[in-house]
Amino acid sequence: MAPFILVCMTCRREYLADSVLYTCPECGNRKGTLEVVYNLPRPGNSGPDDFFQAKARKDMWRYWPLLPFAQLDADFFSVEVGPSPVTSCTRIAGKLGLSRLFLKDDGRNPSASLKDRASAVAVAKARELKMDNVYCASTGNAASSLACLSASAGLRCNVFLPATAPEAKLCQMLVFGSRVVRIDADYDEVFDISMNIGEKKGWYCRNSAINPYLLEGKKTATFELLEALDWCSPDYIFVSAGDGTILSSVYKAFMDLDSYNLVDRIPMIFGVQGIDAAVIADTFDSGPPFEPFDRKTHCVADSINVGKPRDVLKACKYTMENGGGFVRVTDEEIIASVFLLARECGVFAEPAGAAALAGLQKALSSGLVKQGASVALMITGNGLKDTKPVTNLFKQCSVLPADEERIMEELA
Ligand SMILES: Cc1ncc(COP(=O)(O)O)c(C=O)c1O
Ligand SMILES: [Zn+2]
Repeated sequence: MAPFILVCMTCRREYLADSVLYTCPECGNRKGTLEVVYNLPRPGNSGPDDFFQAKARKDMWRYWPLLPFAQLDADFFSVEVGPSPVTSCTRIAGKLGLSRLFLKDDGRNPSASLKDRASAVAVAKARELKMDNVYCASTGNAASSLACLSASAGLRCNVFLPATAPEAKLCQMLVFGSRVVRIDADYDEVFDISMNIGEKKGWYCRNSAINPYLLEGKKTATFELLEALDWCSPDYIFVSAGDGTILSSVYKAFMDLDSYNLVDRIPMIFGVQGIDAAVIADTFDSGPPFEPFDRKTHCVADSINVGKPRDVLKACKYTMENGGGFVRVTDEEIIASVFLLARECGVFAEPAGAAALAGLQKALSSGLVKQGASVALMITGNGLKDTKPVTNLFKQCSVLPADEERIMEELA
């Protein structure tokens, strides 16, 4: 029996992995997103540690029984993705009246974002299929991570991005040796252009919701979080959402574990979106069948500034099935949370990562989260990748003359 099959999110047709590359041919690219369903023997009474049987590895591949590969073959990578730290932030927990606040700092991956987990899976799939060129459209992190993981596995990488993508991310792609196509358009338009060109070129596609395996890689961040907590879930998890793949991956991690009785419960999971970029949240509020409300958006956190979210269907269906929700936050709240995380925990997150904390604060103030609860925040990217939103701080430190007295005056 195949170790997993692919099931269409709309028509529930089932496919073997070697019969379809990306999406359900009957339902098309947007509605025909595929879900990976595993065919594993039930583990009996053994716990997650026995189930994964991978104590020898520390990186994301330790969870390979719940990754979409028949064989574990990841030694060709010269970088390790995961594990990233899970830390407990007592000062912010105290300020907010929570019993515990955990940070899953996924900015501590090779290219400094959670996207490395998806890129690693995409690169491994491309190798399995003997394809030597990969491509993606990206707001920045997917491309910089695909550039990094491709370089580490000897594949050629082609990335398409909006001209507004942050400089540091662009720099990563170029240094890692990718072919970079910058386009004077927003991410949503760039995505469509990349699909047409990638198909014509015959490159392997690492685009959100088109490639069904990305989410499987991303879910290892949640596995690591739970493993660090002895497989006992916190009461709530907050994570930002752009295309909706990371959010869906948090649900999928719990759904997969739950189907093999490997976790105590599924927590309440919140997707956090910018108030002027809340396309998934608005679509969720409209109810099934979740027809997306695509539109032009704005958000200071460029990674979640997405007007045509590709994984909207999965994000909404998983949220509904598991009793989760959404919160919307302003640009000011996102930037304030960057500072709070940095100054109280020493974790410098990029705005899209810190948005999880802004979402938690919003949920606390509206009573969605109870005082005394335990909460985990998925910190999805490192702050050095997108410094523009915080460069206002430079005004606080003008350059002084080399004059000790003058410097003492300034310090007074
Ligand atoms: C740092 C960061 N956080 C969150 C997201 C949102 O992820 P998704 O598009 O899967 O919703 C992204 C996507 O680019 C990201 O780079
Ligand atoms: Zn279908």
